[in-house]
Amino acid sequence: MEFTAQLRADQECIERALKNYAAQWPDYGPLREAMTYSLMAGGKRIRPVLTLAVCRLFGGQAEEALPFACGLEMVHTYSLIHDDLPCMDDDDFRRGKPTNHKVYGQANAVLAGDALLTAAFSVLASAALPPERVCRAVAVLAQAAGPAGMVGGQVLDLLGEGKDLGEEEILQIEALKTGCMIEAAARLGAIAAGSTPAQEEAVADYARKVGLAFQIRDDVLDVAGDAAVLGKPTGSDQSHEKSTFVAKKGLAACEAWIEELTQQAIQCLAPFSETEFLRTLAHFLAGRTA
Ligand code: IPE
Ligand code: IPE
Ligand code: MG
Ligand code: MG
Ligand code: MG
Repeated sequence: MEFTAQLRADQECIERALKNYAAQWPDYGPLREAMTYSLMAGGKRIRPVLTLAVCRLFGGQAEEALPFACGLEMVHTYSLIHDDLPCMDDDDFRRGKPTNHKVYGQANAVLAGDALLTAAFSVLASAALPPERVCRAVAVLAQAAGPAGMVGGQVLDLLGEGKDLGEEEILQIEALKTGCMIEAAARLGAIAAGSTPAQEEAVADYARKVGLAFQIRDDVLDVAGDAAVLGKPTGSDQSHEKSTFVAKKGLAACEAWIEELTQQAIQCLAPFSETEFLRTLAHFLAGRTA
């Protein structure tokens, strides 16, 4: 299937599956509505798409990887709800809609995030795959999302506000807060397919490069993007005095670096055949405007 058609088909499949999971959550006060509001608000679904694509690359059935893909997207959505809170980036728009706390209040936004994070692991555990694969997927996602991954990166990101961080420090923040979850998305696809460790490491390498390029693009778009297209505000990093590579090196250097990382990512796929989707995905993400 051609790239755009495959991307759309996978996105639709993920939307349907997420909606089904959401329908099963209990209706305590505004909880399900608040969880569903952010989950179904129209994210790009890049991480779960990556999970399905890697699963296919290694000969697995993409449907079997769906619970892993959807669980990861729930964790990602929780991270966005909390990232937007007044005590963090204090942003009012996300995925083209008012942020969760603007609609449901801060306490419900915190709790909707907590609930998405925990519900995610039930979803992973429900996968109809050999138990050792499910167990490993749970461990990989927990590692990527937790103190050694996304949460650790978010702490350093907040700590860095108002400081002139060095390149190594910025690199660490971007790798942790964003790279780890994108790497986990690729690993979950490999795990679902029962790949060899060498195959998993190769796609993890690909995803780390793509993930860094993805966050540098996010930082570029925060300066030079269109809020209406992005569905979230621009200028957020500057207003919080975040150290980003855009602030440090300028837009042109970031563009060149995104291109270089994309080429490096594609080289990681050299040992494999039928890599066209993942190659095009790397270019697509590098050049995105949303
Ligand atoms: C936003 O992620 C947060 C970052 C890690 C840059 P996405 O750009 O994937 O956001 P959605 O999921 O499409 O809303
Ligand atoms: C997001 O980084 C990282 C997360 C783990 C949520 P940003 O704070 O730059 O993401 P946006 O720009 O708000 O989406
Ligand atoms: Mg942030
Ligand atoms: Mg933010
Ligand atoms: Mg950003």
